[in-house]
Formats: sequence, structure tokens, C-alpha cells
Amino acid sequence: MNDTILEAKNIGKSFRDPVTVQVLQNITFSIRKGEFVSVVGKSGCGKSTLLYILSTMDTDYEGELLIDNESMVRKNGAQLAKIRNEKIGFVFQFHYLINEFTVLKNVMLPGLKLQKYSEQEVEERAMQRLKKLGIDSQANKKANLLSGGEKQRVAIARALINDPLIIMGDEPTGNLDKKNSEIVFEIFKEISVEFNQSLLIVTHDQGFAANTNRIIEMEDGRIIKQ
Ligand SMILES: Nc1ncnc2c1ncn2[C@@H]1O[C@H](COP(=O)(O)OP(=O)(O)OP(=O)(O)O)[C@@H](O)[C@H]1O
Ligand SMILES: [Mg+2]
Repeated sequence: MNDTILEAKNIGKSFRDPVTVQVLQNITFSIRKGEFVSVVGKSGCGKSTLLYILSTMDTDYEGELLIDNESMVRKNGAQLAKIRNEKIGFVFQFHYLINEFTVLKNVMLPGLKLQKYSEQEVEERAMQRLKKLGIDSQANKKANLLSGGEKQRVAIARALINDPLIIMGDEPTGNLDKKNSEIVFEIFKEISVEFNQSLLIVTHDQGFAANTNRIIEMEDGRIIKQ
């Protein structure tokens, strides 16, 4: 059985304005089910650019990306949007919650968009996840009333709503203090162990990276260690 859930094959990326600059070269690696992987490297080495490709949002690259053993090359925008909503959960440095909506509604949104469960089921699933992250008591508050750490936990609950194959994060603790960063790390660790959840997290935090299962180290657009 093949338990590889994401595979990057020789991915390269250039920006072309005004001159061509190659920012990613020969990126080849794979992630197995249940792996908790961090991506580290100096500012400007290409981490966010890579994550943008791996999350299928950028389709202008060389090489091949497989998610769930399926090639993402030559898929159209609608197909990719469906795959993203179904298979990938995102947690960014800034939470991108909708401030006027309640916490519960924010977590429900990707679930409603999936159209796999009824609204009531999506609500139950959202409440389970909020409970899991210890913020179910805030479910009916407007998102803008929460602290930074709480907002990030809501963003994780939202990322988990559709049982994604993989959670991707770009500096999810970058905007948090030490205590809240640790809480977020512990949540990631727990879901990786408990639910065999795969995670791919870009981080500048050495302590965070050191505690993941595997570190992918980048330099000048290449992987130098993995
Ligand atoms: N739209 C763009 N057009 C041109 N160059 C870009 C564009 N986006 C990113 N770059 C360049 O690509 C390189 C990699 O950028 P990227 O944002 O991936 O780095 P990063 O590793 O995420 O850095 P950081 O740790 O600061 O977030 C940088 O040199 C950046 O200037
Ligand atoms: Mg970045």
C-alpha cells in the first residue's frame, strides 16, 4: 500500500517581471500519511512560494505535484478549488477569520461549501472541533472579540472541518507570543498523533521545527536537507 499523500517532483518556479528570477529549483520530496513536517530556511529562500504551489493556488510552475496520488498538473481552476476544499486545511500567520461572523459560523464555512454534510451535521462537526481545541465556550461570539491565540485556534478548527488529508501552514505561530505558540504546536502534535493527521508547516521557530517528525531545510530555492 502506498501511504504517500503528497509528492513534489522536480518542482521549479520562476518569476518573470521584469527579468526572470528562478526562486525554486528541483524541489523533490514526499509526505506520508501522519507525518508532521516542518519547512525552515532564511527569509526569501522560497518557502511561501513553495507552499502556494503545494496548496494548488499557484499553477504556474515546472515539474509535477501529486496529491492523494493524483497529478495536479492540467487541472482547471474549479477542479483545484474542489480538491483544496476537500483535501487541504490551511492555517496562516494571520487567521483570515470573518470578523462579523460568529466563531461557529467561521468554522462551518468550508464545511458548508463542501456540500457533503447537512447544515446541522456541519454545525455538529464544527462544535466537536471547537471543543477539541478548548474554545467551544466562545462558539457564539463574533470572531473579532477573541484574543490572537484564540483566533488561531478557531483557524485550526476551521482547517479541520472537512477532515483534510493534509494541513498546511505558513508561519501559523509567527504572530503569537511564546505561550500561544506552544499551545498551537501542542494542538498540531496532538492531531498528528491522535488522528494520524499529516501536517506541513513553514516556521521560523527553531524549537517548533525541532519537535516535528521531519525538517525540510531550504536555501536559495532548493532543498538542502530533508
Ligand atoms: N510575485 C513575485 N514576483 C517576483 N518575485 C517574487 C514574488 N513573490 C516572491 N518573490 C521572490 O521570491 C523569493 C522567495 O519568496 P518567498 O516569499 O517564497 O520567501 P519565504 O522563504 O517565504 O520568505 P519569508 O521567510 O520572509 O516569508 C524572494 O526573493 C521574493 O522576493
Ligand atoms: Mg514566507
